[in-house]
Amino acid sequence: MIGYIDGLFTISTSSFTYEMKVDSFGRLLHLYYGAPIEGDASSLLSLRDRGFSASPYEAGKDRTYSYDYLPLEISTLGEGDFRTPSLIVEREDGTLSSSFIYSGHRIYKGSERIKGLPSVEIADAECLEITLSDSLSSSSLILTYIAKDATLLRGMQIKGGKEKITLRKALYSMDEISSRRDVIWFDGRHCSERNIKRERLDTATLTFSSRRGATSHQMNNSFILASPETTENSGEAFIISLLWSGSFTFFAEKDQYDTARFALGPGSEYFSYSLTEGETLTLPFLILTYSENGLGDLSVKHSRFVRKYIARKRRGGLKDPVLLNNWEATYFDFNGDKLMAIAKEAKSLGCDLFVLDDGWFGHRNDDLSSLGDWSENRDKLGCSLETLSEGIRKNGISFGLWVEPEAISEDSDLYRSHPEWVLKLEGKKPVRGRYELVLDLSNKEVTDYLKAVLSSLIERGKLSYMKWDYNRFITDFHSSVTPSGRIEYDYILGLYSVLEYLEEKYPDLLIEGCSGGGGRFDLGLLYYTPQSWLSDNTDAIERIDIELGSSYIYPVSSFGSHVSAVPNHQTHRTTPLFTRSSVAMIGSYGLELDPEKLSEEEKDLIRREIKEYRKLCPIIKEGDFYRLSHTPELGCAFAVSQDGREGVLIAIRRLSHGNPKDHYVKLKGLDEKGRYSVEGKEYSGSMLMKAGLLLPFTYSEDFEAVRLKVKRLD
Ligand code: DGJ
Repeated sequence: MIGYIDGLFTISTSSFTYEMKVDSFGRLLHLYYGAPIEGDASSLLSLRDRGFSASPYEAGKDRTYSYDYLPLEISTLGEGDFRTPSLIVEREDGTLSSSFIYSGHRIYKGSERIKGLPSVEIADAECLEITLSDSLSSSSLILTYIAKDATLLRGMQIKGGKEKITLRKALYSMDEISSRRDVIWFDGRHCSERNIKRERLDTATLTFSSRRGATSHQMNNSFILASPETTENSGEAFIISLLWSGSFTFFAEKDQYDTARFALGPGSEYFSYSLTEGETLTLPFLILTYSENGLGDLSVKHSRFVRKYIARKRRGGLKDPVLLNNWEATYFDFNGDKLMAIAKEAKSLGCDLFVLDDGWFGHRNDDLSSLGDWSENRDKLGCSLETLSEGIRKNGISFGLWVEPEAISEDSDLYRSHPEWVLKLEGKKPVRGRYELVLDLSNKEVTDYLKAVLSSLIERGKLSYMKWDYNRFITDFHSSVTPSGRIEYDYILGLYSVLEYLEEKYPDLLIEGCSGGGGRFDLGLLYYTPQSWLSDNTDAIERIDIELGSSYIYPVSSFGSHVSAVPNHQTHRTTPLFTRSSVAMIGSYGLELDPEKLSEEEKDLIRREIKEYRKLCPIIKEGDFYRLSHTPELGCAFAVSQDGREGVLIAIRRLSHGNPKDHYVKLKGLDEKGRYSVEGKEYSGSMLMKAGLLLPFTYSEDFEAVRLKVKRLD
């Protein structure tokens, strides 16, 4: 419900309340975001004369009124607010002051898709739009709020006025009175993405960002703000995230009176965006999800929303395909016969899809050349793309292809004919990454070229799937057509325009995102590529941590998860096949190995595992996913169907110890009064959820997995 009385906006669902108020001087105050409440939270505002705090001129002799400490919904410079601003508008004369005043609002039902940006379509969502105008620059802001279940989406449009303005910073922000928060973030590196970190916010500013032109392995663009006492099982917390795949800035700041400011939005120091009359910058949506019942419940609520409205299922095409990808099987070293043999074997194991990874185009036999030349290497394949695809599909298996459309090799025909299509500064050699340069996706000529070349591949190869890789970050924010300060933003719009075009043209095509593993794992990209390769680290023991870390924010349905060979290519560790397979079941299951090198016994096990995955897939991908243990000893998760009738528990024990201790976990998402069978033994729901379950490890080897099916009996 969205209410408006005398300047007070109240947005509420059964899960949260969000309150703002237009003050007597037209500024928008942020009063409250948290558990559902009734009433006007401006009772929390404390107006006192606080020495050295500046007051707006309109307050006259009233020294008690100051934006130095009042909680704001928009924070700019020049208003007496000395905290870190979230929005900086530079005028033509270089001044940085702005003063956004309420000028109107509307309340309506049903959010619609925004072309060109990841968005949501929710027919029954309650929506609010507030307009604020800056009399100095004549620019205006349109703030949008869309509420659904436990989630609130915020939108912001900045409209240029008569005078040209340059946005030096454009983040969403929100202040919180009497704040006691831990900031939780997800950092990492290549092969070790989304490690959870937590720190108490004190009187300081914690800043997290990416200036890589992508969200990055190093820092995810989703954060959790939790009460200090919040645990996995209890306490309140909210997720703040951005439907965006480029550079970003987040900060959490606590001021002199314990009011906190949380700000998140696109862009880094490279960002500087000019607008003239008639021009609008539409920020990607900010997404907030709230829970009073611990981080486990928060992830479940957020995942339900993301699955339904963001990482949406394709309209047609393969449903939950089990795939085999040849990357770790062959790397660049293959020919057409080898691919046919792998694909045939993949089919015999039960796979639905064979994916041909890097090295099939131009003259690419290592990573030095050919990116941009998206036509098949007939010498290497021994045939055309059409013939290869037909040969593979004749075995009853679909065909998919790897591409890295945003990259270009200097040794490519594309570079030789269009050097101006690359992001680089005249007079400076561009920085290379994996010997690659980055195409200028802010240039429409480039995105038009990509749309045409990718369409041709999809049609010629009769592709059911495309793996969209991105293997380096942007260093040279310079274009032959776009002002430098816009590139961080316009590049991502260019990327989205190609993805949106393909999505509309090929509703049966599944595009899986990838960026050297999980370097661009974000809600923006998941809108177009509902699954994404989680990490280049396929070692089961390290991957379970990446899965558990990712699951705080992202639904398991979006995790690309594969069984690879041992010794593992990243860690050189040998783990049991059943363990590798159990870890790969947490997500979209696949194989990343040479099936011709498997023993008959291993092949039999994989066949059984694929059959089992098909049965468990609806629970894993459409059910609720709870982390039961995430410790150096034990990684354990429980996926349970939303009706609570069926579940699967996956537990991975790491190193063995002499005379080991036992492992117990408490299940979640069941009915305490229900009766359940766990692998044939009967238990009450209360027993499983309150007393717990003894995990039946044999303790006979390192890296042992236990997988248990839970079924409701009554
Ligand atoms: C990085 C990806 O993450 C890998 O899976 C593989 O596709 C390589 N790129 C190919 O170059």
